[in-house]
Amino acid sequence: MSKTKSSSSKRWLHEHNSDVYVKRAHQEGYRARSVYKLQEIQAIHKILKPGMVVVDLGAAPGGWSEFVAKTIGKSGKVFAVDILSMQPIAGVEFIHGDFTDPKIVNALSQRIGGAEVDAVLSDMAPNLSGCSVTDQARSLELLEAALVFAKKFLKLKGIFLCKAFQGAELIKFTNELRKNFSTVKIIKPPASRSRSKEIFLLAQN
Ligand SMILES: C[S@@+](CC[C@H](N)C(=O)[O-])C[C@H]1O[C@@H](n2cnc3c(N)ncnc32)[C@H](O)[C@@H]1O
Repeated sequence: MSKTKSSSSKRWLHEHNSDVYVKRAHQEGYRARSVYKLQEIQAIHKILKPGMVVVDLGAAPGGWSEFVAKTIGKSGKVFAVDILSMQPIAGVEFIHGDFTDPKIVNALSQRIGGAEVDAVLSDMAPNLSGCSVTDQARSLELLEAALVFAKKFLKLKGIFLCKAFQGAELIKFTNELRKNFSTVKIIKPPASRSRSKEIFLLAQN
């Protein structure tokens, strides 16, 4: 490992171990600190309601899926997808595979059957290469795939929430969202690390 890489890994480990959200996730039995980003968005925007049908893209290790399943209750249904495996969660149907693979999208649509989808959530993020141009392009590819899916499966007043990384290309994607949804909000929840370029786009109706 190079000197720079090892010092950035050390910094990440130090930050992770002293992170209040990591500690809270352990105490509250959640699988990942990322759950608090969705909780904070939910606390303000109230996007999830009991009985909803929700698709969770980039779901592993399952923090969002656990929270969504709890919030929508037994009358709701979560369909989760990830390229990594995920331990089962009650009320969550998991599809293991790459969401950019049409076979996986097909498998997901078959599981959904004819159900109307109330919300498509995407916390998908590529493995970061460290090269911002490459990372931005990969992230956009995931965003575009999620949007194509949302446009096809969301019900008329549906919700699309996705993670994105700030950069020049994101403006085009945000404009595309504005063409398809009546409101688009850019959100930086407190649980999202301030030095991260990560933001969330919430598109409704
Ligand atoms: C930040 S993590 C998601 C954390 C999750 N929301 C939680 O709360 O536990 C991003 C996830 O996106 C997944 N991912 C990245 N590219 C993907 C792809 N092409 N298809 C499916 N999942 C993908 C990664 O495997 C990773 O698990």
